[in-house]
Amino acid sequence: MSGNVARLPRAPLQRLQLDWLQGTAVELAILRLDLIDPLLGGNKWFKLSGHLQQARLAGADCLASLGGAHSNHLHALAATARHCGFSSLGLLRGHPQDTPTVRDLQAFGMQLHWLGYGGYRERHREDFWDAWRARHPRLYCIDEGGAGLLGARGCEVLVEQARGQLQDVGWGGYDGWWLAAGTGTTLAGLVLGENGQHPVHGATAVPSGHGVERRVAEILREAGCADAGYRLLDGSRGAFGKVDAELAGFIRQCEHNGVPLLDPLYTAKALMALRYQVLGGYFAPGTRLIFVHSGGLQGRRAMEPRLEALAGPVDSFDIQPAEQALHE
Ligand SMILES: Cc1ncc(COP(=O)(O)O)c(C=O)c1O
Repeated sequence: MSGNVARLPRAPLQRLQLDWLQGTAVELAILRLDLIDPLLGGNKWFKLSGHLQQARLAGADCLASLGGAHSNHLHALAATARHCGFSSLGLLRGHPQDTPTVRDLQAFGMQLHWLGYGGYRERHREDFWDAWRARHPRLYCIDEGGAGLLGARGCEVLVEQARGQLQDVGWGGYDGWWLAAGTGTTLAGLVLGENGQHPVHGATAVPSGHGVERRVAEILREAGCADAGYRLLDGSRGAFGKVDAELAGFIRQCEHNGVPLLDPLYTAKALMALRYQVLGGYFAPGTRLIFVHSGGLQGRRAMEPRLEALAGPVDSFDIQPAEQALHE
């Protein structure tokens, strides 16, 4: 991948054949953001591209952001910073932990500071970054999760990328998008890119009331767009980060059926929520949906033993509905 931040990589669009789609006449294609780069892959490169341009324009030399000990966002930020010639600063929630992600952050040269839990809650204060800016005068600060309009703008291009590959999957058109929503920034980018032409369905990785609805509405308002063209459902299965036996079984069964590797917290929960909706008859026969593989596989490493322990025999799982519409 080039160090030129203006050149965004193209994510391949592929047909996704699933046993549970048979008999529903719903068709899926998957937009493989996970394939664009082993380190910078997923939605992060798109969310960060505008920030990199801004940081360069501002003459910054260090990129800073916040996250947890398994954060996909910090992982991508540290890799991107190193790739593009910036130093990086990561402010972490809680107390020092040794995780595969943290080891990578260190290997990428990110300076890490553990804020504890109380210190991390301070991140919403207006003056939060002041002390860090005093220490690093050419610091460029990015909100937790890369949230915000600039990140969303970087994701708009995904609409064009997918449309340019419809013929490759034998489609003349499509009827909507399905993806995981954490901050809702990627979803907002698709809504902006679609400009009302196709609906965007987001399965949230956090339960309702944790701010996704508000954030998406804020981004669209800031962009001068109507708060419309999307739907949010609770795909969290009770809590962010919660992994249960049904989810672990679903992941295992996906892998047996040739679905690309999914991360448990975002893409697997999103696909599981979609399965429930499709089997519940939400989508009319003939509907064609683009499912976004938003990456996140680096975060899965620490969870492998737990997934393995929870999964049990392949044929022993059943999916409990755990999604409700949050925003129609
Ligand atoms: C793998 C993965 N997928 C999806 C998301 C959600 O993206 P967004 O925050 O733009 O909603 C995230 C991060 O939050 C993520 O790490």
